[in-house]
Amino acid sequence: MSRTKTRFAFVCQSCGFRSPKWLGRCPGCEEWNTFAEESERVISGGSSARPAVPYPEIEDLSLSRIDSGIGELNRVLGGGIVPGSIILLGGEPGIGKSTLVLQAAEELSRQGLQVLYLAGEESAQQIKIRGDRLGLAGKHLFLASETCLERFLEEAQKIRPNLLVIDSIQTVYTESLDSIAGSISQVRECAARLLRFAKGERVPAFLVGHITKDGALAGPKALEHIVDTVLYFEGERHQNHKIVRAVKNRFGPANELGIFEMTGQGLKEVDSPSQLFLTERAPQAPGSAVVGAIEGSRPMLVEVQALVSQSNYITARRESNGFDRNRLSLLLAMLERRAGLHLLGTDVYVNVAGGLALSEPAVDLAVVAAVVSSFRNQPLSAKTVLFGEVGLAGEIRAVSLAVTRIREALAMGFKSVVLPANNLPLAEGVPKVELVGMSSVLDFMEWAG
Ligand SMILES: Nc1ncnc2c1ncn2[C@@H]1O[C@H](COP(=O)(O)OP(=O)(O)OP(=O)(O)O)[C@@H](O)[C@H]1O
Ligand SMILES: [Mg+2]
Ligand SMILES: [Zn+2]
Repeated sequence: MSRTKTRFAFVCQSCGFRSPKWLGRCPGCEEWNTFAEESERVISGGSSARPAVPYPEIEDLSLSRIDSGIGELNRVLGGGIVPGSIILLGGEPGIGKSTLVLQAAEELSRQGLQVLYLAGEESAQQIKIRGDRLGLAGKHLFLASETCLERFLEEAQKIRPNLLVIDSIQTVYTESLDSIAGSISQVRECAARLLRFAKGERVPAFLVGHITKDGALAGPKALEHIVDTVLYFEGERHQNHKIVRAVKNRFGPANELGIFEMTGQGLKEVDSPSQLFLTERAPQAPGSAVVGAIEGSRPMLVEVQALVSQSNYITARRESNGFDRNRLSLLLAMLERRAGLHLLGTDVYVNVAGGLALSEPAVDLAVVAAVVSSFRNQPLSAKTVLFGEVGLAGEIRAVSLAVTRIREALAMGFKSVVLPANNLPLAEGVPKVELVGMSSVLDFMEWAG
């Protein structure tokens, strides 16, 4: 038994908020002019109840992960592709989404696994041109130029692939809705159906989604809660290396990073992130500090830059790339009050080199160091790594994984590490590196001279 009825609603194209009438401003996300009318035919009924399953009989699918053949991709996925899982891969146009999924598809194909690839963005011929450049054999790779979800899933029923790729989720549509492909209702409904299909058939699926920097055209954002894993390409499109971050993962740690380099033959894994993030560093420049950061499960040394200059604006500017701007304002206010640094009439710019976004508190001390160094126009010692959380009283607080950070500094040839005094007891005994424990920013000001 199934019934069909048609409903009309206005839907915010940014966050999916629904309203029976048009609204100028969305109550959900507070964006202006995001409402569009979408009609949908709702087909209900037809399915029968599924019996509940005794807990011990539930299969642990994460035990049978599929090796994607790409180490950095396995890493962000938490160890490989979990059968039946839905993975959203988002990023700006041209950043490398199709390249990454094609390379993974090829690796599966080499293992004799079948991949069904929905090519909604490009023609099969265009994909072939890229595939030739990437050196794809594609023995078990099937391309479908079908953007109707129902027909694509029929094809999937026939081929019974080991992996589905939907490139992109904004180009598919389900016949059960009248709204156009790419509208938020379509994107959501298609994702929900793919999810049911994936779970039912135990076939994993990559959903490729476009996302712009400011999150406008935020179809993929609205999918985050539906899918199992969310991977985003981070950073700038024009830089050569590409960073993929697991923003959410039901089958592994969130925040894990995969780092690649874009080459003529496609994405290559980067073995040493620290080396990558320090290559273009100008060690003698004032305002440059190296932080011993932990991103995901991995330590990496990253350059933090600051530029402090006399302000020509009525309100001084505080800009930040890769470090939270509110956190920066807070640290600057702290420096003003606790360390007597006169920053009120100055513009302060902070930049994390390499397009990485650093969010752990351990980065604070390096930001403070870079700002102080630029303010005094005095470079920090080039062979020093810093880490530590800085509190509002100017106190330097202990952080996790100190020894891991120190070992990375050592491995990269650094001579000294500035760290929270409270981390010292655990860290002592690490050979060949000078450890400088500090308990307040005043200690740092004095040490930096
Ligand atoms: N011959 C080449 N050598 C090196 N890099 C290349 C070459 N051809 C293309 N690229 C890079 O690959 C990128 C395209 O990647 P890809 O098509 O995978 O991105 P995408 O995220 O799928 O983009 P879209 O949003 O357009 O689908 C381009 O930005 C370009 O920098
Ligand atoms: Mg693409
Ligand atoms: Zn909204």
